[in-house]
Amino acid sequence: MTTTPTASCFADTAEYLSARVVFNRAIAERTFRIRLECPAIAAAAAPGQFAMLRLPDRADPLLARPLAFYDTFCGIDDACPEGPAAARRYADFVYLVHGKFTTALEHVGPGDEIVVWGPLGNGFAGVPHAGHLVLVAGGIGQTALLALGRERLGGAAYGAGAARAAPQRVTLCWGARTAAMFGGVDDFRAAGIDVHLATLDGSTGRRGTVVDLLDALPGIEASARTTHVACCGPEGMMAAVSRWAAARRIGCHVSLEAPMACGIGICFTCVARVRDTPDEPWDYRRTCVEGPIFDATRIAWEA
Ligand SMILES: Cc1cc2nc3c(=O)[nH]c(=O)nc-3n(C[C@H](O)[C@H](O)[C@H](O)COP(=O)(O)OP(=O)(O)OC[C@H]3O[C@@H](n4cnc5c(N)ncnc54)[C@H](O)[C@@H]3O)c2cc1C
Ligand code: FES
Repeated sequence: MTTTPTASCFADTAEYLSARVVFNRAIAERTFRIRLECPAIAAAAAPGQFAMLRLPDRADPLLARPLAFYDTFCGIDDACPEGPAAARRYADFVYLVHGKFTTALEHVGPGDEIVVWGPLGNGFAGVPHAGHLVLVAGGIGQTALLALGRERLGGAAYGAGAARAAPQRVTLCWGARTAAMFGGVDDFRAAGIDVHLATLDGSTGRRGTVVDLLDALPGIEASARTTHVACCGPEGMMAAVSRWAAARRIGCHVSLEAPMACGIGICFTCVARVRDTPDEPWDYRRTCVEGPIFDATRIAWEA
């Protein structure tokens, strides 16, 4: 296995600190939004990056878990989401109650402390400024995409030294099992993102998957050359979206959600099968430091 020489740079600049919980509230079925006061991390976080979170004074679960940055704020009550990156003090995460860590996290409240290190990973900086950015989320995958949408609409700048991007058109196609699982749709709409929903049971939006939504997007085939997809969700869904994009010569980046133990490139629990160029044989790459965002044509999908 080979590694990219600069791959550990994100881990080198990450902060490790104890963050105070501002709130932790339910926003959908088994889905919570938690706000942490962590200025050094919030000011540096860019769209698509993540942090490792751990509950202090607990041996179970022993290992921290990765959560994507949902958004960052200057003020405590959603104040100045479009303010300068350097003034951001609060980082929000949205999580699905799933296993040991998220079940315990559900029970923390205002004033509690959480151990956080980040920002980690490469983020979406490699996503080109195409005319039309299509965000594609499956299940809880929307968490990695809100800040990217805000940034590309030209309304916000994230990360150290970041400047505002030239505005692009941004669409979200989001699929879930049922209507009750959508938490935060209004955040995307309030940002100015054109939202399309699909559910497997037909309880809201189109009955079907995100690929059905993509097929139905008006004018998508004609504007393929100026469209780019950024996708996050279950692996099978990302593989399907990646195939959909490749068939239309639409560029596509994916955010891989590999299980992680350290988040900083040491343990190799997070490896994914990645090619350096689409024509080369795959090799293992560490999702935590060489990802989690990859060009979809580089992934050797197992699904
Ligand atoms: C970069 C990154 C960003 C993420 N962002 C978010 C986020 O914003 N919100 C959110 O809810 N989750 C997110 N996740 C997923 C989250 O980290 C895992 O689901 C985590 O395992 C939850 O911890 P837990 O202790 O509750 O569940 P665990 O007890 O760790 O897991 C329960 C079960 O799920 C399996 N599992 C663990 N991790 C994964 C995985 N990544 N994919 C598939 N199966 C897995 C385990 O093998 C186990 O069977 C992200 C993951 C990555 C890598
Ligand atoms: S999580 Fe340890 S190397 Fe990626």
